[in-house]
Amino acid sequence: MARTGGQSIIRRKTLHALTNPIQGKYYDWPVGFHVGLDLKNFWKLEEHKLGETTFTHFADGTAHKNRMQGNDFVTSAMYTHGVRCFSCHDVHGTGNNAELLKPASVMCLQCHGPQSPNGPHTATIEQHTHHPAGTAGNECIGCHMPKIEQTIADINVRSHTFKFIPPSATETLKVPNSCNSCHTGETTEWAKKALSSWPNASRGASRSKMVQRGRAPDSQAWRIECNIASQHCSS
Ligand code: HEC
Ligand code: HEC
Ligand code: HEC
Ligand code: HEC
Repeated sequence: MARTGGQSIIRRKTLHALTNPIQGKYYDWPVGFHVGLDLKNFWKLEEHKLGETTFTHFADGTAHKNRMQGNDFVTSAMYTHGVRCFSCHDVHGTGNNAELLKPASVMCLQCHGPQSPNGPHTATIEQHTHHPAGTAGNECIGCHMPKIEQTIADINVRSHTFKFIPPSATETLKVPNSCNSCHTGETTEWAKKALSSWPNASRGASRSKMVQRGRAPDSQAWRIECNIASQHCSS
């Protein structure tokens, strides 16, 4: 366990929360947390009822505003498998966007190559994304981290649930979806139609399939070792 950037990210944010709680009541960072302790004991999740769009949340539970990466991330399968903020970020000046250890296009693939047990479960990445290599639509973060969360300056930042948000969720829950966040000139109907022709897009069935294959959370410690910081990956 290195002294990682994650610690400094958290520390900086803790200070931020202490000095500047939004509207005097929303604490953005896990006050009292430091590396080695269990984040979930310190990060009090904002209260939210599914189905309601509020200052902090979209109706599907995705964060509605910036500075909620932690609230988002604890809902991801990656969190339950031991991936942490510092698996991807290091504040000690990486020179990459958002202080990522590697540019996102490289970093995701280190744990998610084609056929990796972590998914996506296709022979090539293009078979999963249905977009040609080298285009924005083939980038993991395009669909799994759409820029939908608002900052004060009206600049949107990326969601950290890592969930693909289907076009139908825009219709039913008013949450911006992954497809139309790029295809802004198209309708949700267009996106649903295109998506329905993708044979391997299970649209929600993927998690239960993993469970059927016996890939229960925390049963595969080796995958956690697939850590970018140590430059090796067993997948
Ligand atoms: C699996 C990798 C991964 C994990 C884990 C992760 N992030 Fe990120 N984070 C990213 C990527 C990718 C970006 C977007 C970079 C870009 O836009 O090029 C990002 C962006 C950010 C940003 C900048 C805002 C933005 O979206 O541009 C902040 C702040 C941030 N992350 C905080 C966190 C915190 C806090 C945690 C832990 C609770 C965390 N991240 C966990 C990959 C990750
Ligand atoms: C340090 C290794 C690691 C890195 C880096 C990483 N992942 Fe993951 N990811 C995992 C593991 C482990 C799982 C859980 C696999 C399982 O459920 O069997 C996972 C699961 C996922 C899932 C399924 C999530 C769900 O909640 O159903 C998505 C989507 C995903 N990752 C996207 C990304 C993206 C996008 C990036 C790059 C920004 C990324 N990952 C970087 C290890 C990693
Ligand atoms: C153009 C959109 C798109 C892009 C780009 C994309 N995905 Fe996905 N991904 C999806 C859809 C759709 C699903 C199915 C969602 C569901 O079933 O809820 C999915 C599901 C997944 C899953 C869970 C199911 C499985 O097959 O294991 C993982 C893991 C995943 N994606 C990882 C990635 C990674 C890593 C990248 C980048 C190499 C990536 N995705 C790029 C759309 C995309
Ligand atoms: C990060 C941006 C991005 C995301 C997210 C994205 N796309 Fe695309 N998409 C593109 C780009 C760029 C092209 C053009 C690719 C090329 O040059 O061939 C494209 C092309 C397409 C095309 C073929 C050309 C056309 O316009 O008819 C379809 C269909 C399509 N996307 C559907 C989808 C669907 C469905 C989703 C959600 C599952 C999605 N895209 C998500 C960027 C994106």
